[in-house]
Order: sequence, then C-alpha cells, then structure tokens
Amino acid sequence: MFFKLPCLYYVFDSFANIRPMEKPSSIVVLTGAGISAESGIETFRAADGLWANHPVDEVATPEGFARNPQLVYEFYNQRREQVLSDDINPNAAHTALAKFEHEFEGNFLLVTQNIDNLHERAGSRNVLHMHGELLKMRCLNSQMVFDIRESLNFDTQCQCCRSPGNLRPHVVWFGEMPFHMNQINMALEACDIFVAIGTSGNVYPASSFYQTAKIRRAHTVELNLEETGSSFDAHVYGQATEVVPRYFEGLLT
Ligand code: APR
Repeated sequence: MFFKLPCLYYVFDSFANIRPMEKPSSIVVLTGAGISAESGIETFRAADGLWANHPVDEVATPEGFARNPQLVYEFYNQRREQVLSDDINPNAAHTALAKFEHEFEGNFLLVTQNIDNLHERAGSRNVLHMHGELLKMRCLNSQMVFDIRESLNFDTQCQCCRSPGNLRPHVVWFGEMPFHMNQINMALEACDIFVAIGTSGNVYPASSFYQTAKIRRAHTVELNLEETGSSFDAHVYGQATEVVPRYFEGLLT
C-alpha cells in the first residue's frame, strides 16, 4: 500500500512499519536505556528503575557531588562494576546497529544517552556518548579525560595533577550540557531518517531530536517497548532485541 507525504513516498511493509522507499543517504540513531535493558542493565524510569532507588538530586547533579562526593563515587562505581561483569553483554539490538553501520553505504551516526560500553562491544565504531561514559573519569582542573575500570573515590590520584580529590565521573549530570551537541545537531539537520530506540523522551535535549530532524523533513521513527507520547512519524513497539534487528535489516534491503 502506497501513499504520498510532502517530500517522499512511503510504503507499509510486512513489519507494519513505515519506511522511505527511496534509499536513505543519511541516518541518525538515538539510543536510550531501553536498548540495554535486555542485557541486564536497569533503565532509569521503570517502576524498579535506577531513579526509583537512588535520589537523582544526590547522585546525578553537580550540587549532589559537591555535597557528598563519596556517595556519587559509590553510585557510579556500582554501575561500572556491573557493566564490567561477565553477566552484562551486548544483545541482538546492539549487534544489529553495529552490523548496519558496517553495511550501510550512506552516512550513519549513532548517538547514545547510555554511559555503558555495549555499543562499542557489539562492534559499533562511530558512537557519540552525549551523556558521557562510565569507563572514563575527568580531572576537575584540567578537564583531561582518562580511562578507568576500577573504583573511583576521593583518594584516587589524578594522573595529571598527581593529587587526590580532583577526579569526577565523566558523565553528564542534570543541569550540565551534554557532549557533542554541535556534531549531533548538524547530523540531525542533514539526515533522511531519525530513529529513537528505547528512550522515554523525558530528558532534553535528546527528547527534541526528532523535532530537529524534522527541520529538513526527515522521516522519524520510534522503536520502543511502549508508547512514549512523542509525535514521531512511525512507531514500532516491542522488545529492542526483536524490533531493532528487523527494522534495520529492512532498511538494507
Ligand atoms: N526494548 C525497548 N524499549 C525498552 C525496553 C526494551 N527491552 N525496556 C524498556 N524500554 C523503554 C521504556 O519503555 C522507556 O521508554 O526504554 C525507555 C527507557 O526510558 P528511561 O528509563 O527514561 O531511559 P532514557 O530515556 O535512556 O533516559 C534518558 O535520563 O536520567 C537520565 O542520563 C539518564 O541517559 C539517561 C536519560
């Protein structure tokens, strides 16, 4: 079944999905906690999610860190330990995105709000972590970024200052500016398709990406477990490990 929208022809395929018939030349994908849920990492806003059990103000704001750095270190140390454990591995959705990046001939940018390393472990190469990375820490004086796999605490000696107490997790807290925004906005304004996967759309600016992509009339698609209320052109509901491989395989054919 075909119908015409202002700039592109669309087709309903057998996956009850809508995709452009012409080959897209530029795709931006945004992922959120939902893509890592089936790998065993809690999402933030589920009933038993991270923010139900940890006060956001205390563990994810600059003010909370200034008040009680040890509590913040411990929160991210637990997250880091979990991500590095043998139990946590990339799932079929991460793998499908990595495969797509390798096989797609146009421009492809993967932006993630996730601070885990599962996209990289699945084989993705071009990943922008807009909310930072668990396996990195940053010097408060020089802003230099270092890898970290162990626990970080107030006694950890900074590799550049050689003094303790100067390091923080390299994650973006509430009230801070996400990373890579210029590059992300440029890609959004130039893309043909924007796909958001496993994100509730509660946090700005990621929640407004589909509107930025619309500036050049990109086709916008949401792949999520449930309805989020955002006005994408198309919605595909289901577990990420099912809907992501099918959607991206469909784009390659
Ligand atoms: N498959 C697909 N989607 C899923 C799955 C799954 N298996 N499990 C959960 N989801 C969906 C949920 O329905 C929800 O819409 O993933 C979304 C997760 O939403 P949040 O917990 O709000 O996570 P996210 O959108 O990534 O949060 C954004 O908030 O606190 C900050 O910095 C944190 O990066 C995070 C940001």
